[in-house]
Order: sequence, then C-alpha cells, then structure tokens
Amino acid sequence: MAEKSGSPAATAPEQQQQQSQFLSDFIAEIVKNPLNLALVGVIAILVYKIVKSRTRPEETIQEVKKLPKLRRDFTIEELTKYDGKGPDGRILVAVNGSVYDVTRGARFYGPGGPYEAFGGRDASRALARFEVVAATDKYDDLSDLNTTEMNSIKEWEEQFKERYDYVGKLLKPGEAPTNYSDEEDEGSQRETETKSESYDAEKKADCNEAAEKSKSD
Ligand code: HEM
Repeated sequence: MAEKSGSPAATAPEQQQQQSQFLSDFIAEIVKNPLNLALVGVIAILVYKIVKSRTRPEETIQEVKKLPKLRRDFTIEELTKYDGKGPDGRILVAVNGSVYDVTRGARFYGPGGPYEAFGGRDASRALARFEVVAATDKYDDLSDLNTTEMNSIKEWEEQFKERYDYVGKLLKPGEAPTNYSDEEDEGSQRETETKSESYDAEKKADCNEAAEKSKSD
C-alpha cells in the first residue's frame, strides 16, 4: 500500500533533527533579544537559589549555653546588661515585676531576634499593648495601665513562668535586694530542671492567641 503523503509519523533521525532545530531556534531567539536574556538570567539565579536552599545542610541548632543559674534581684539599670550581647550571652526579661532568664529563648530575645527589644528590659508595658518596642531604662511602675492591660501582663507572665527560670524581683528605685539563701537556691534549681525538661515537649503557644485576645478586649 502506498504511503499517505505528508505522513505525520516522522522517523527517529527526523525527530532528532526537528528537536535540535527547535532548540537552536529557541536559543537564537533568546540571544537576539536582551530582554529574554535578562529573563533567563533571573530564572537561572532563582533556580540556583532554590537548589542551594534545598541542598544546604540542616541549620545548626543554636546550642543552648549552660550558664550557672542566677538567683538575685535586679534594678532596671542592672537588667540592661543582660541583653544577650554580654560575654556570656545571658538574656533577662522582666515581666510584671519578676525577672526571668530567657537565655534559652535567645532566638527570640537575642540580637537579631524578633523580640530583641525585650532583652535586658522590663517588657511589661510593651506586652500589655502588644507591641514590640524597647522599654525605657527607667523604672516603670505601670500605674497608668488599665485592668485589661494588667490582666494581659499577668497572662504573659504565666507563659514566662512556664517556659523560663525565675531569677528574682525587679527592684523599685531604692528597694533593697533580697538575700536569697543557698537552701532556697537549691530548691529553685530543682524546680527549674523539671521545668526545662518539660519545656520542649510543651505545646508552644504562639502569640497569635494573645493577639486575638487583645483584639477582642
Ligand atoms: C503578626 C504579628 C506576630 C506574629 C505572626 C507572631 C508570631 C509568633 C509566634 C509564631 C510565636 C511562637 C514562637 C515559638 O514558640 O516557636 C511568638 C511568640 C512570641 N511573641 Fe509573637 N508574633 C507577632 C507579634 C508579636 C507582638 C506584637 C508581640 C509583643 C507583645 C509578640 C510577642 C511575643 C512573645 C513575647 C513571644 C514568646 C516567645 C517565647 O517563647 O519566649 N509577638 N510570636
């Protein structure tokens, strides 16, 4: 039987030829137009970035520094030294008159963290208003805050209590620091260890919850 003219079935060498013709036309088209060249460049960079980000080794988990436990009261001035930029990297945050060691949360409160502004500060007012701003380095008695704001601070404090080690009181100007006995210190250390262990297993509440609450109040 005679083959139909213009048969669609091309032979393998013909197909290869067509493909290479298409490819060379395609490249010629790109090279001709500088805009196309630029687009190809952008695509190449993006592909490179995606591939690189996928092949990058697992980000090294920031090692939590094992610092000796602190048990003492702080004035607001003393607190400012503990913003994570010191030699030991310790970070303290005061909430509602209590100071917490948040060094384990350095990714939040340490340099470059989203809540860096709270490191070495009394975060109470900012937490009450749900804004990330550095508190002043003067003592803030929070006396102008309303009940809702004070309740919000207390809720935040509960979260800090659950997650971090309590260090001591934030001293009012002129207030004498407490002399914590060794016995008390050991007791709080034990309590801290149990808390630290449960920290990772605990369902991490995020602050969206707090945001929702502050909106509805
Ligand atoms: C759109 C805005 C915000 C988003 C999406 C957001 C998101 C988050 C998330 C996901 C966490 C939990 C992280 C984790 O446990 O792994 C968190 C924690 C936190 N957020 Fe926010 N946040 C926002 C705004 C704020 C604001 C305005 C404040 C200031 C009051 C704030 C204060 C905090 C604090 C103190 C923590 C606890 C960190 C810790 O575990 O010590 N956030 N946020």
